[in-house]
Amino acid sequence: MSEKKKILITSALPYVNNIPHLGNIIGSVLSADVFAKYCRIAGYETMFVCGTDEYGTTTVTKAKQEGLSPREICDKYHKIHKEIYDWFHIDFDSFGRTSDSEQTQIVQAIFRRLYENGYITEELQTQPYCEKCQMFLPDRYIEGICPHCGYEMARGDQCENCGKLLDPSDLKNPHCSTCGSTPVFKETKHLFLDLEKLKPQLENWIAKESVNWSNNAVKVTQGWLEQGLKKRCITRDLSWGVPVPLEGFENKVFYVWFDAPIGYISITAHNCREWEKWWKDSENVKLYQFMGKDNIPFHTVLFPASLLGTGENWTKLSVLSSTEYLNYEDLKFSKSRGTGIFGDQAKDSGIESDLYRYYLMRIRPEKNDTQFFWNDFMEKANGEIIANYGNLVNRVLQFISKFFDAQVPDVKKGAGSVFEATNFDEKIQIILKDFETVELKKALIDILDLCSGGNKFFQDNEPWRLIKENKEKCAAVIGGLFGFVRDISILLYPYIPAAVEKYFKSINLTLDELKIQNIGNYEKCGGLRVNALEVLFKKLEKEQVEELRVRFSGKQEKDENNAAGFDKLALKVGKIIEIERHPKADKLYVEKVDMGNGEIRQIVSGLVPYFSEDELRGKNVVVAYNLKAAKLRGVMSEGMILAAENNAGTVEIVSPDCQPGEWVVTEGAVPNKEEITVDDFFSVPLEVKSFQAEYDGKVLIAGGKTVKLKKVADGKIC
Ligand code: 2FM
Ligand code: ZN
Repeated sequence: MSEKKKILITSALPYVNNIPHLGNIIGSVLSADVFAKYCRIAGYETMFVCGTDEYGTTTVTKAKQEGLSPREICDKYHKIHKEIYDWFHIDFDSFGRTSDSEQTQIVQAIFRRLYENGYITEELQTQPYCEKCQMFLPDRYIEGICPHCGYEMARGDQCENCGKLLDPSDLKNPHCSTCGSTPVFKETKHLFLDLEKLKPQLENWIAKESVNWSNNAVKVTQGWLEQGLKKRCITRDLSWGVPVPLEGFENKVFYVWFDAPIGYISITAHNCREWEKWWKDSENVKLYQFMGKDNIPFHTVLFPASLLGTGENWTKLSVLSSTEYLNYEDLKFSKSRGTGIFGDQAKDSGIESDLYRYYLMRIRPEKNDTQFFWNDFMEKANGEIIANYGNLVNRVLQFISKFFDAQVPDVKKGAGSVFEATNFDEKIQIILKDFETVELKKALIDILDLCSGGNKFFQDNEPWRLIKENKEKCAAVIGGLFGFVRDISILLYPYIPAAVEKYFKSINLTLDELKIQNIGNYEKCGGLRVNALEVLFKKLEKEQVEELRVRFSGKQEKDENNAAGFDKLALKVGKIIEIERHPKADKLYVEKVDMGNGEIRQIVSGLVPYFSEDELRGKNVVVAYNLKAAKLRGVMSEGMILAAENNAGTVEIVSPDCQPGEWVVTEGAVPNKEEITVDDFFSVPLEVKSFQAEYDGKVLIAGGKTVKLKKVADGKIC
């Protein structure tokens, strides 16, 4: 692959507090793992690094929501990530955390060099500060009236209503989105990475290296350069991050995108004393970086600029492999809507990880966005990897067991063999080139294509007839097929490692034999004893897939399939008067809701990830009033609180402006008196259109006024 002998591979460090979905998994860790497995069996000295990206505002917010410290949140979620990747057989050489001490040391060291070399500038900025929360507010954490369209809930960075980009100081009546108090504007000093000054070096480097980047990476990077490189702020007023080692900056930390990519280095250092032989040897180490497309500029511009500015010999990006997005059955993955499969759910789905690995690599979104479809998954898993590769393995091994006393005949490559019939040598060269150029989807398709040739050869040669008529010829046919299958298995190992390991065990070869260089070398094959083969894969069944499709398609799916009428519902306005955390469930609150007319109901809601107790206390809500009461994790819940959500994942409580006790209805509708189940409830599609709550095009009314939302313009209510 390269003059350089050492291969360093990174996959983008996932944000610690998001559980990765299948789209995240294919985007970086799985693709990188397939490549790393290939590199190892090809004999390259390989280092594959990943870990959780732990610093920044989102972690602090999540910690508040779950009532934990940032450190505790990171501990909790790091473990979840690790378990998911282990289950997928992702074999990192180093899987670490950006909150380890090596990160602080290395980030600060890089910063000091940049500072000494004159690439850091200082600027005074005026920023909103919340005296109650005692923090400078990130732009997104401040809300107010948009100066352009008058929308009341515009955020400090952008108005969701008119789409205009904003500065927090533009907002009229600004307030802290956490506690609602009015921020003061205070001066605060920040540090900037001087990209303007680094521009000549950076452009030179990009021109030289970008030949090995994917098309989208080249385009995105060009876009950045064309927009002009500006100084970029690399510090934040926050406590959870790498401290800035400079006098006057004691309460500040580095911006998470400045420190995150340095995580690749520190995570290597955490687990490998000789980390510099990987990261400070640009002559001998070739760096391959895998990521989703939204991460590109940080890896092609910001991270290299930080390294170039030190003037040191850092190993820098050589090959960039980025993916487009994977969607789920025409929808976006969404944890809150329950749409799509997330890593923890895949683990519990009853389907082997190899089949997910196969399918995800088979539909890897290399040039366009692609879709995960359950039916397609079943067809490709059963019809391709199982029916093609699995079938050939079975046929050949069973034949040897039955007719050759479980002993492999000699493998000969000559005329009339499967090797000749399939044009094996030439195809192998193509496949190896696919791997070397990181064309991982193409390599997989090419391997399976070759494998089909093996099945056809088996069929055409009718060994079941030959064994009776010409045992010698039969031995040659079957011996050749054995060698052929072993080689195909070596090539498939990066994609389906568990199945290939089982197969190697059943032919009594050690995993040391699993090497690219053994392809075409059959010395050790003839005479091997074959054990009974363990089942390599469990076929996907129609009912199983149908059940999973319904389970993971979220509320939208249920809505569309059994849409029922609004007349099933009884919705009533209440006011939350007390709220506390559920004693046994992290994500649940237990609320006491005043339903008017002296009625108080206890309701359990899954709102912890979205709202603080303070945000909910005293708030008007809409309650699904005729829901059958049910215990949720041991606590009785008498109804459900309605929230709206848009495609971007913004969640807002539906909060009508009227007295508790009012019914929420469409024009002329009468609330239903009968009890309904949760499924009945979800089968009635309530929506938001242009900030207006609706059912089937009819507006919802409470206390004589239409029910409006403030943040969610268009979305679903449930
Ligand atoms: O987009 C993300 O998930 C980021 N946490 C990726 C960081 S990649 C690297 F720079 F650490
Ligand atoms: Zn505040």
